[in-house]
Amino acid sequence: MTLKDKIITSKLPKHVAVIMDGNGRWAKERGYERIFGHQNGVKAVKNTVEAAAELGIGYLTLFAFSKENWCRPRSEIDALMDLMASTINSETETLIKNNIRLIIIGDLNSLPDKIVSKLREVTEATKNNTGLKLVIALSYSARWEITEAAGKIAEDYKTGKIKEVDEKLFCKYLSTAEIPDPELLIRTSGEYRLSNFLLWQIAYAELFFTKTLWPDFSKEDLYQAIINFQNRERRFGKTSEQTD
Ligand code: IPE
Ligand code: IPE
Ligand code: MG
Repeated sequence: MTLKDKIITSKLPKHVAVIMDGNGRWAKERGYERIFGHQNGVKAVKNTVEAAAELGIGYLTLFAFSKENWCRPRSEIDALMDLMASTINSETETLIKNNIRLIIIGDLNSLPDKIVSKLREVTEATKNNTGLKLVIALSYSARWEITEAAGKIAEDYKTGKIKEVDEKLFCKYLSTAEIPDPELLIRTSGEYRLSNFLLWQIAYAELFFTKTLWPDFSKEDLYQAIINFQNRERRFGKTSEQTD
């Protein structure tokens, strides 16, 4: 029995989110510059997207660049932006061919124009695709997103557009308004932190940490995380007896 066969297809997480970490260390271990790790991380992205689509997972969110990552050396940021631009260009056809819809969350205003226009083009071209929804978090941070939402809510309250604020309404003001909450959150590279990722949305996500560095993350690693998820009891505050 292969690892993939152990996955119960009727119990798949609807939404898997991944903090893709460890590219720099992967490169340094091999005596290369950090960007070499980012370049090799692209393969892991492709494998993960392919595996999620094959399994029939509804949503896959990948944390590609945080707001805090703008504090990295300029040379690394520039190389990462170039890598993103070339990856979007080379992968557009594959997304269309595989019925994958691309959704971008994050502060697009802070990204270079050439990347933003290409991203708009691809999100538009794939907007009617009914297969995997691939969400890429770019120049994203959860506190930024929550603060933006709070600001817009205050404005709409002032103008009388809304009368009451509850959790359901708050969700509608987040960049993930149309996206269900992640049920499984994976972080690679052996770091046990959330680094400002989807803080609102992961309120009840199952967390899975692996020491694997992102460029080494394979389909089998994703299967392992899903099997682990499927063996957990999700209680949502109730007792074990109630969740039977
Ligand atoms: C993750 O790998 C990719 C980005 C944050 C863009 P890192 O670049 O953080 O690699 P490490 O954590 O330094 O090894
Ligand atoms: C989180 O990784 C951001 C992304 C994966 C894009 P970082 O490497 O930036 O996180 P920290 O700095 O270790 O918390
Ligand atoms: Mg890192």
